Amino acid sequence: MLQMLLHSLSLLCSLTTTTPPQAPADSGGVIIVIPPVSNDTGIKQIPDAAHPWVAPGPGDQRGPCPGLNTLANHGYLPHNGIVSFEQIVTAVGEGFNMEHDLASALAGFAMLARGNAYLDLVSIGGESPLIPVLPDEIDGPNPPGGLAKHGRFEGDVSMTRQDAAIGDNVNFQDSLYDELLLYTGQFGDDSPVTGNRSIVTTKVMQEFKYARFLEDQVRNKVLEYHVGRLSLSYGEAAFVLNFFANGTTGTLSQQTMGSFLRNQTFPDNWFRKSSPGNLTFIASSATEILLAHPVAAGANNANGSYILDAPLPVCSAPYYNLAVQNLPASLNNATGILARNVITLVQAIAKPFGCPPVAPAGPVGV
Ligand code: HEM
Ligand SMILES: *[C@@H]1O[C@H](CO)[C@@H](O)[C@H](O)[C@H]1NC(C)=O
Ligand SMILES: *[C@@H]1O[C@H](CO)[C@@H](O)[C@H](O)[C@H]1NC(C)=O
Ligand SMILES: *[C@@H]1O[C@H](CO)[C@@H](O)[C@H](O)[C@H]1NC(C)=O
Ligand SMILES: *[C@@H]1O[C@H](CO)[C@@H](O)[C@H](O)[C@H]1NC(C)=O
Ligand SMILES: *[C@@H]1O[C@H](CO)[C@@H](O)[C@H](O)[C@H]1NC(C)=O
Ligand SMILES: *[C@@H]1O[C@H](CO)[C@@H](O)[C@H](O)[C@H]1NC(C)=O
Ligand SMILES: *[C@@H]1O[C@H](CO)[C@@H](O)[C@H](O)[C@H]1NC(C)=O
Repeated sequence: MLQMLLHSLSLLCSLTTTTPPQAPADSGGVIIVIPPVSNDTGIKQIPDAAHPWVAPGPGDQRGPCPGLNTLANHGYLPHNGIVSFEQIVTAVGEGFNMEHDLASALAGFAMLARGNAYLDLVSIGGESPLIPVLPDEIDGPNPPGGLAKHGRFEGDVSMTRQDAAIGDNVNFQDSLYDELLLYTGQFGDDSPVTGNRSIVTTKVMQEFKYARFLEDQVRNKVLEYHVGRLSLSYGEAAFVLNFFANGTTGTLSQQTMGSFLRNQTFPDNWFRKSSPGNLTFIASSATEILLAHPVAAGANNANGSYILDAPLPVCSAPYYNLAVQNLPASLNNATGILARNVITLVQAIAKPFGCPPVAPAGPVGV
């Protein structure tokens, strides 16, 4: 344990104090710069006239994130779904009022987990010819998989996508969405405008998320629900409640939810969240969903029994699991612009957790 601690501390020092060596192979690399905090963070109608919905074409990348897919369909992100760190942070701020540091942490994790941090490009869908293998094949010989690739970021017990081991983990699944509608019809609030039991509430998510866990624990022989994925999955349920809600009322109708999840389009007459949604806010909403039916981090063993993980004695278990245990250790071997970008992004991921940045220590090429 002490050795692990010392290891983390020495990596922390190297991350925060060392200037990486400049390599000659740097021409073509893009230096990643965290965008400034926007001063435009109030309520407003989205989309504006400059961002109409345009259906994705055959070559356009779309993936497991309904938020990013919607932004790309409306041109807040490049329509082809090949995006930079800065474009993600700006687009989720503009479209959904996701707060700057939370957006930077998610975008930084996306870039390091499934993108090319040398070129500052990640696919919001699958592998793309526009995103080549990393310099020196530092994360193995294959091109980055994009956000659709299972593991590291995309994981089990999603709401509207199947587990990778069971079915389609990338595209919207009617059967799962029908289940969410069933829970809405049973536990939702009434609205004189959109109908009785049409308002998607925390209670709906509490019941639906627990049902999804129980289903996948039985159906998915290789279910993995470690603390990083567990936190992200409850965070994503909180995204639905808080970022898809109409900002004028803070409530989410079933019709609006369908527009985002099924059609991946902003509804007519929709207003974004009225103040920036940060990690503290989302974590507290996610915790409220979880605590109705607590589920602890773990994974199925070969016999299909759910085995709990040992607690991680670290600053933040979700941060450590995702950014240290899930990101390839080989990134520490980077030089030049890639090394510089790795440091920028690792720091951006750690920031909203209030934790010291720790260097990636996970498996390579997975
Ligand atoms: C800031 C950058 C973001 C990144 C890099 C990102 C990435 C992802 C990824 C990789 C997944 C798949 C996880 C899985 O279920 O296996 C996901 C799911 C999800 N994302 Fe995002 N996302 C971002 C922002 C947002 C925003 C702003 C929203 C909402 C406005 C959003 C809403 C969701 C929802 C609801 C899911 C879960 C879908 C489901 O379970 O069916 N995301 N995101
Ligand atoms: C934000 O700052 C820009 C200048 O950087 C200014 O033009 C704009 O009016 C400001 N917007 C708001 C909403 O304060
Ligand atoms: C909604 O519920 C109220 C009271 O439970 C009932 O009076 C009303 O008829 C219902 N409205 C619809 C459209 O079903
Ligand atoms: C989704 O799009 C279809 C086809 O354009 C439309 O008929 C339907 O009303 C839309 N649903 C929602 C919830 O926006
Ligand atoms: C959002 O709320 C405003 C004000 O109540 C309303 O006019 C608008 O129709 C709502 N939009 C949606 C998509 O529910
Ligand atoms: C996060 O958002 C909450 C709710 O809006 C706010 O009270 C809090 O000050 C914010 N925290 C940080 C660290 O920005
Ligand atoms: C699965 O069950 C068998 C029989 O009870 C046992 O011998 C084996 O150790 C179990 N495997 C795991 C991975 O727990
Ligand atoms: C880093 O590079 C050294 C020297 O080439 C190599 O031995 C080591 O395995 C690399 N580490 C990782 C995690 O790839």
